[in-house]
Amino acid sequence: MKLKGKKILLGVTGGIAAYKSPSIVSLLKKQGAEVKVVMTEGATQFVTPLTFQTMSANAVHCDMFKAMDHMDVEHIALAKWADMIVIAPATENTIAKFAYGIADNLLSTVLQASRSKVMVVPAMNTFMLESPANRQNMATLKERGVIVTDTQRDLLACNDVGSGKMLEPAEIVDLIDFHLREKDLAEYIVTVTAGPTQEAVDPVRYLTNHSSGKMGYHLATAAAKRGAKVNLISGPTALSAPAYVNFVPVVTTQDMFDAVGAYFDETDVLIKAAAPADFKPASYSAQKVKKDSDMSSLQLVKNPDIAKHFGAKKTDQVLVGFAAESQNEIAFGRGKLEKKHLDMIVINNITAANAGFQKDVNTVTILHADGAVDEPGTMSKEELAEHILDQTLEILKAR
Ligand SMILES: Cc1cc2nc3c(=O)[nH]c(=O)nc-3n(C[C@H](O)[C@H](O)[C@H](O)COP(=O)(O)O)c2cc1C
Repeated sequence: MKLKGKKILLGVTGGIAAYKSPSIVSLLKKQGAEVKVVMTEGATQFVTPLTFQTMSANAVHCDMFKAMDHMDVEHIALAKWADMIVIAPATENTIAKFAYGIADNLLSTVLQASRSKVMVVPAMNTFMLESPANRQNMATLKERGVIVTDTQRDLLACNDVGSGKMLEPAEIVDLIDFHLREKDLAEYIVTVTAGPTQEAVDPVRYLTNHSSGKMGYHLATAAAKRGAKVNLISGPTALSAPAYVNFVPVVTTQDMFDAVGAYFDETDVLIKAAAPADFKPASYSAQKVKKDSDMSSLQLVKNPDIAKHFGAKKTDQVLVGFAAESQNEIAFGRGKLEKKHLDMIVINNITAANAGFQKDVNTVTILHADGAVDEPGTMSKEELAEHILDQTLEILKAR
């Protein structure tokens, strides 16, 4: 419920992408937002107000001069109500009106009357998007502090291939979340390691583990949304690089060690959510080892211990570690916290039902260097990321 209590006014204009706007309402509601919808007359040619009324559970506003059913002047009341106004899709026509201060329908009038944050999500044919007038109008809006999003490049409804396709509803909701978040980590640089590493045996085979990277990616995304400058150092995962972060892909534990070293001095908070391989093959075969060769054992050597090395080097940084244990997890966790000079360690018991690798939820115990023990219960990895960052912020503030 990332948007709980937030009031979003969605402006829908007359572009073909309006058929996707009900999904934006649905996703916003799922995140706890209250949504009201204003449609231009053009938009009602593509989707009916009834659809938005049903999805938003609120009356839909289309007409500025409709008889008032209460004593508020509608365009002023709506402008004051919203925490954020999102126009999706935004036509070239509505963008131009907004830039020039034309207020000739309910939506364009609300825009002129509003002091809230406004996000414009353009959707149009490539030539319209790139027309000199539209480029200038979008630049004018950006200069005034309006958030104007990118578009996607794809096959468009008009059969042209190019830019102009509206961002997907999930991306739009993610951007709304990003822009509405309190930036309580704005002063800090957070470096997160995530995912497994891979240690090659030969050009075909490698050693790795079951880490999915989900926990680290949620931490990086949440820290960036809360205003931190984030470096995400990630081993190979199936996840896409999150927006808003400096993404540093690595393969081996040595690569991860080197990357952490490159960012360590600028870092205020180092969160080691990765599961780097502790061992690597003692030698690498440049040729594929054949099936019928005599390879009955694999000699391993130790990889550098990233947590221990940087724990010893730490000055005033906050270090957060993770432990994945299958038994005696609290005792192992406390030992690791002390040995590696961590401020906090998040312990997963990987054998528990709702915990550990690959899952979307986690059940953890968090131990603090001052002896405090926190058991937040089972929660999604997304919620857990926020919880860990809340506790990290407390440690930062106490310094
Ligand atoms: C089938 C169809 C699709 C359209 N798609 C778009 C579009 O994607 N983007 C756009 O800027 N205009 C599009 N238009 C043109 C707008 O509907 C037109 O400029 C209208 O005046 C916009 O009014 P509004 O901004 O008040 O909604 C489309 C028109 C039609 C007939």
